[in-house]
Amino acid sequence: MNKPKRYTITSALPYTNGPIHIGHLAGVYVPADIYARFLRLTGNDVVFIGGSDEHGVPITIKAKNEGVSPQDVVDKYHAIIKKSFEEFGISFDNYSRTSAKIHHETASQFFKTLYEKGAFIEETSEQLYDEQANQFLADRFVTGTCPKCGNEEAYGDQCEKCGTSLNATDLINPKSALTGNVPTLKETKHWYLPLDRYEDFLKEWILEGHKKDWKPNVYGQVKSWIDDGLRPRAVTRDLDWGIPVPVKGGEGKVLYVWFDAPIGYISSTKEWAARVGKDWEPYWKSDDTKLVHFIGKDNIVFHCIIFPAMLKAEGSYILPDNVPANEFLNLEGNKLSTSKNWAVWLPDYLLEFPNQQDVLRYALTANAPETKDNDFTWKDFQARNNNELVAIFGNFINRVVVLTNKYYEGVVPKPNELSAIDEETLAAVKAYPDVIASSIERYRFREAQQELMNLARLGNKYLADEEPWKVIKLDEERTKTIMYVALQIAAALATLSEPFLPFTSSKLKAILKVSSSDATQEHRIENSWNDISSKTILLPSGHQICEAELLFSKIEDDTIQFQLDKLEASKKANEVANKTLEPQKDTITFEDFTKLDIRVGTILEAEKMPKAKKLLVLKVDTGIDVRTIVSGIAESFTPEEVVGKRVTVLVNLAPRELRGVVSQGMILMTENAEGKLVFVNPDDANVPNGLHIS
Ligand code: MF3
Ligand code: ZN
Repeated sequence: MNKPKRYTITSALPYTNGPIHIGHLAGVYVPADIYARFLRLTGNDVVFIGGSDEHGVPITIKAKNEGVSPQDVVDKYHAIIKKSFEEFGISFDNYSRTSAKIHHETASQFFKTLYEKGAFIEETSEQLYDEQANQFLADRFVTGTCPKCGNEEAYGDQCEKCGTSLNATDLINPKSALTGNVPTLKETKHWYLPLDRYEDFLKEWILEGHKKDWKPNVYGQVKSWIDDGLRPRAVTRDLDWGIPVPVKGGEGKVLYVWFDAPIGYISSTKEWAARVGKDWEPYWKSDDTKLVHFIGKDNIVFHCIIFPAMLKAEGSYILPDNVPANEFLNLEGNKLSTSKNWAVWLPDYLLEFPNQQDVLRYALTANAPETKDNDFTWKDFQARNNNELVAIFGNFINRVVVLTNKYYEGVVPKPNELSAIDEETLAAVKAYPDVIASSIERYRFREAQQELMNLARLGNKYLADEEPWKVIKLDEERTKTIMYVALQIAAALATLSEPFLPFTSSKLKAILKVSSSDATQEHRIENSWNDISSKTILLPSGHQICEAELLFSKIEDDTIQFQLDKLEASKKANEVANKTLEPQKDTITFEDFTKLDIRVGTILEAEKMPKAKKLLVLKVDTGIDVRTIVSGIAESFTPEEVVGKRVTVLVNLAPRELRGVVSQGMILMTENAEGKLVFVNPDDANVPNGLHIS
């Protein structure tokens, strides 16, 4: 498209059924934020839209599991998620939620418009039904085998393994997620969007129109869906959580979450426009607006096929110019998983790395899953911080600021004649805004950030080559010129780092006293993105800067080890949870139970049974006597460890002779996931429910 007049940038509305983790940040919000900040810095009219996706089945399942209402669930996580976005500097112009009144009205109206235009087909058909739960099953309420790839854990709306979008009735061997029952079929009426009617439009618009500019991963997925043939898709559900179907016959039904959620981008834009006194319509209806959706790869079908078909059916909206979807981020080699607690949650990160948002933003961008799935590792995070942010960016700035204060009391010196190296260096600086911009405009954020670091490298190298700390002893005038040049590079970094490292950028601007917000400042200096190439002087001589302040600090090994240990603990907990438990034994009568005489006791002495790997010979105070018990715990405990332990003892077990020692009873033990025996103490985190006592 020609140069757009304005930009509407959306980022996937996160489900409010849990906090946000690094996968969300890396895949969607950091790239979207870099893009939005860059566009604002280059003087564009931008609205950057976010909000919470508060409908849908996962939220109702979570509410059911926790015994609270869906509204309670979404209120809680909407607040947590919104706060995380603010804390990580995701610069939304508006962050809304789909439970907002304006959204209910907007989505409802959108549905009615399509209904009145005859854009839906109405169909009564047999749908999966859970008799026990008294509920129709679709989406995440039902799992089964994917007809396309054979994944046995596909959902009723999508197979996460192969990405195919499914209808619940497509699943082979469906199973209710509510009760585990095999569903029956029951008749119900729904409205369908006949996607097949849009095949020609989609082929022309995407397959022909965006072959070159859309990312291959996005284009490829879309093409394969279209090639497979599109089918009508239900846009209503039998559910009591969501936006009521606003037409006759829709009682007791709601809009399908994927019908209402993308309309949330429009409602959030309306909310923003009303707040700032603008007209929302050009941002969605004007051909000179560039609409860009930032999403993860599991959202591609909804943003490239279903939502555009909806917009097309409505008729007055523009279509996205691009949908730069990312692949997935893994963590330490494994898929991020909420249920397995295999994640780095943003609220936790900030507690453990206070004020280090930029470090995470940086590491995630450096490893962004732009073209393929990628792995986040804590070692890489540490290396990115220590070897790049600290050693290159931080080190350069620190040297410049410290030396300026040391030699000139913080005043930018007056340069003398520039050497060829100085000229070349300053010319090289001027090239960066365009180089970085060109990467950002092509949604290559890793590459863009690398270029930013190359500018810091250039600064570092300049100082290392020119060695002002040596030259000062020989030639004070030359030193002034060197420091002047270095200060120009520092000023360029302050501006160009803003999209990537917004917190660092404002800290650096404060140190250099270049700021657009500090209007009371005497020598007010503002450097826009384009100024970096067009101005000859970014930081004039005579300008006073502040004292040095560290931008980044080294992350030590034990800090990283702590994070790795936390993940290791999650892994252990999962193993315990997945350990197959023995089924319950046959029922016994109360009389059977009363035959057992179980007492509390204390182990007084313990020694190894000679020539027996597993056995310890214990002397146990049972309260009624002190007796000998032979216990098979020697592989899990040394004698020293068990002396003094309080235990439960079955005291009326028939005596048994073991290697010549008569054992008079049994200590009750259980075995944890790693096969280690542990004393029965339900308060011990290593003793989960269901472990067998023997
Ligand atoms: N909530 C969805 C997810 O997390 C994304 C919704 S994007 C929107 O996968 F377009 F529907 F808003
Ligand atoms: Zn599949």
